Amino acid sequence: MDYPEQPPVVEALEEPALPDYLVDTYSWAYLRPRNLRLLDRHFVVNGILWGNYRRLAAWACEHFSSGDRLLQAASVYGDLSARLARRVGALGFLDVIDIAPVQVNHCRKKLAGHRNVSVQLADAAAPPGSGYDAICCFFLLHEIPDQHRRLVVDALLAAVRPGGIVVFVDYHLPAWWHPLRPVMALVFRWLEPFADGLLRTRIEDLAKRSADVDWKKETCFGALYQKVVARRLR
Ligand SMILES: C[S@@+](CC[C@H](N)C(=O)[O-])C[C@H]1O[C@@H](n2cnc3c(N)ncnc32)[C@H](O)[C@@H]1O
Repeated sequence: MDYPEQPPVVEALEEPALPDYLVDTYSWAYLRPRNLRLLDRHFVVNGILWGNYRRLAAWACEHFSSGDRLLQAASVYGDLSARLARRVGALGFLDVIDIAPVQVNHCRKKLAGHRNVSVQLADAAAPPGSGYDAICCFFLLHEIPDQHRRLVVDALLAAVRPGGIVVFVDYHLPAWWHPLRPVMALVFRWLEPFADGLLRTRIEDLAKRSADVDWKKETCFGALYQKVVARRLR
């Protein structure tokens, strides 16, 4: 007797709720579909980063290789996800996660032509996979409160395989002489209330098992931006 084909058993994953910090502080930037269409333009993201978007995206991408299984810890405006997908190529795979459903849908549309990509709803503090070769965390840490930031750093380090890397690119305290320092101080105070917590801390000090990781930090553009490459040793 022929049995009807059974559908695969799919575990129901719990959807993360939108965190208060996102709703209270960043609704205008990330949760309103109309603003999202206005903001996701090269001249906007490049302007916000003082003309450094391409340089910063390339700075992050240079650590990833063809064949990598790569996680992007949150979707971002601009073409970073497409660059990452091209970087890992047909032999690799890119998982993009974001905590906001509207961003997940938007990112899926942007990446529709790429066959080596999946975009899922998840909190970077609880990524859906593990054993990644590499993770890219681009301008996420400064937007989340201190306690959540620690959870994200630990969860990303736990999600790479031993020998794998997590690349953080984010804001950094600019040099005292930086002409934009006073402007950025106002931007952080009014628009980015959690950034100060990142600027005052080394990313390596956020990790519980910091000693199990090799940390390399660089800064650029008068130290306004930092890149930290964390290689998990064991
Ligand atoms: C990564 S930051 C990037 C900001 C940057 N200005 C850009 O270019 O878009 C913004 C994204 O992070 C997402 N996000 C915030 N908290 C998150 C979390 N805990 N886990 C995953 N995604 C998160 C937001 O929904 C938003 O789409």
